[in-house]
Amino acid sequence: MMIIYFNGRLCPLTEAHVSPLDRGFLFGDGIYEMVRCYGGRWFRLADHAARLARGLAEIGLEGFDAAWLEGVGNDLLAANRVMQSDALLYLQVTRGADVVRSHVYPMPPLKPTVFGMVRTLDAGGPGPPASVVVLEDRRWTRCHVKSIALLGHVLAANEARANGADEAVLHRDGIVTEGSSTNVAAVIDGEVVTHPESPFILSGISRKVTLEICRELGIRFNERPFSLEELKRAPEVFLMGTTHEVLPVASIDGVALDLPVDRGVTGQLMRRFSELTRSADCLE
Ligand code: PDD
Repeated sequence: MMIIYFNGRLCPLTEAHVSPLDRGFLFGDGIYEMVRCYGGRWFRLADHAARLARGLAEIGLEGFDAAWLEGVGNDLLAANRVMQSDALLYLQVTRGADVVRSHVYPMPPLKPTVFGMVRTLDAGGPGPPASVVVLEDRRWTRCHVKSIALLGHVLAANEARANGADEAVLHRDGIVTEGSSTNVAAVIDGEVVTHPESPFILSGISRKVTLEICRELGIRFNERPFSLEELKRAPEVFLMGTTHEVLPVASIDGVALDLPVDRGVTGQLMRRFSELTRSADCLE
């Protein structure tokens, strides 16, 4: 039986009930975070907690301290008896259940609704290289906020799937932003190029770690906007994300990239990323 965290306590999934007037349910009014745990050790938890704190502050959601993330995660691992496992923690905080449906949230604030769960993952690093399709980025312009309102992401992911691809690579006016649940980088003239931090992308923790690895290994990188033309000419393109780690792109819009995966910059980054997930220092 799956044990979840719900509003300050651990309980079986079936015992948690959310009001239909919860603002998360009605408006998607909430923030979430996902953290990976390797062999019982959280990967870059402090970065995830900092992003959660920023997101909560950005939308003015009070009543949950992001510093509690680690405690919630540890309690969930213990309660589900998966303390030594590879696992994924999901935590979401919504603005709570009101007594009416109103766009304007009440003052003083409602008690937030907090839900956390862990699921175990198979060990063994990222999956096979991904096929991607390029789609227009039709999301809102606050993509740096890890909002639970993910309809734009969900539609992009499903459009990619309907086109036989694993992930969407999104663009705004010909500039590559990110994927539906990943950040995107291309190797252009020997340099790792990825969209700069801005309201058009999520500041991914895996992206941050990847750039730290570039610095460590002496690989040149540049956080700058890059175009679809540059993407399509790049010999190497890869995705970054908590569930994907560093994942090479095998094809874009059905056109194969020809570099063998174990070679090149992507291979180096993948191997070092994977090492770090298993090491105590995590480059922190
Ligand atoms: N997705 N961009 C978007 C839109 C994302 O949803 C994610 C993460 C990332 C990568 O961020 P990070 O490296 O911090 O995981 C980039 C999570 C895992 C998800 O919603 O499934």
